[in-house]
Amino acid sequence: MDLKAYLEEKRSLVDRALKEALSRHAGPSEELNRAMSYSLLSGGKRLRPILCLAGAEAVGGSLESALPAALTLEMIHTYSLIHDDLPVMDDDDLRRGKPTNHMVFGEATAILAGDGLLTEGFGLLIRAGLEGRIDPGRALAAMDVIARAAGSQGMISGQVLDLEAEGQEADLERVKFIHGHKSGKLIAASVTSGGILGGADKEQITSLNHYGQCAGLAFQIIDDILDIEGDPEVTGKRGGMDQAHGKATFPGIIGLEKSWTIAKDLVNNATASLVEFGSSAEPLHEIAGYFLTRQK
Ligand code: IPE
Ligand code: IPE
Ligand code: MG
Ligand code: MG
Ligand code: MG
Repeated sequence: MDLKAYLEEKRSLVDRALKEALSRHAGPSEELNRAMSYSLLSGGKRLRPILCLAGAEAVGGSLESALPAALTLEMIHTYSLIHDDLPVMDDDDLRRGKPTNHMVFGEATAILAGDGLLTEGFGLLIRAGLEGRIDPGRALAAMDVIARAAGSQGMISGQVLDLEAEGQEADLERVKFIHGHKSGKLIAASVTSGGILGGADKEQITSLNHYGQCAGLAFQIIDDILDIEGDPEVTGKRGGMDQAHGKATFPGIIGLEKSWTIAKDLVNNATASLVEFGSSAEPLHEIAGYFLTRQK
């Protein structure tokens, strides 16, 4: 398959739907609307929504059945980036090739824009279920998976531990936990929520979740590597920030070479759980490989 064309097609579908959702749910504050769309419509890779669509496809479900959750996931992801960049967190001034949200709108509006995206993200999935555009029972099950992954047992716990580990000696087990939570959980939920909405059975959900956890951890290892070796012109982020902040990272603890080896093993492990799906899981297979070769 032509992965590049697949990613481009799905990205433009997601971009269009996000734009439409934002304008439909615009609030009374123009400044807040601007801050939310500034970060949401600023050219991210859209990997979580694409994984969600590919998860539905793997189990024979339609794109329409998974699209609302795909938007929810990108809105939650974008909120997490806005907050991650704040001075009290990673204190970054560049994201997706542009000044970070708080640099443009100030910290208070940036926090509120993140809050808005998180809340509206769940809202649009709830409404898709209520209005019968997707199966309400499946919508609830998908929301459960996403809420657990994004909440205090998932992404947020990873973010807290990431901050606590700054400047501390960390070992491999610890950084695996941090990365598996701050990034791996939402990535796994992207694939599994897509599967749920596409009609996956229990065994399929377990396989998709395993794929997502392994690929998600590999994704964050590569993020650590790109912070060292990536070209900021391409990543759209300032490089070298992890070392500057004393972050717990894979290359920091075990070096670049071993980090690559682990990331590759994880991707092999991820794709091994796709065998039962046959050719419908080809996009998921290819995307996991892309996690290793991506330059941004
Ligand atoms: C960045 O995620 C934050 C991490 C979890 C590493 P992405 O690399 O998916 O960022 P965008 O959405 O493409 O900007
Ligand atoms: C971010 O991890 C994870 C979340 C936003 C949940 P990083 O802090 O490594 O991501 P970047 O490098 O800023 O994109
Ligand atoms: Mg961070
Ligand atoms: Mg960061
Ligand atoms: Mg990073």
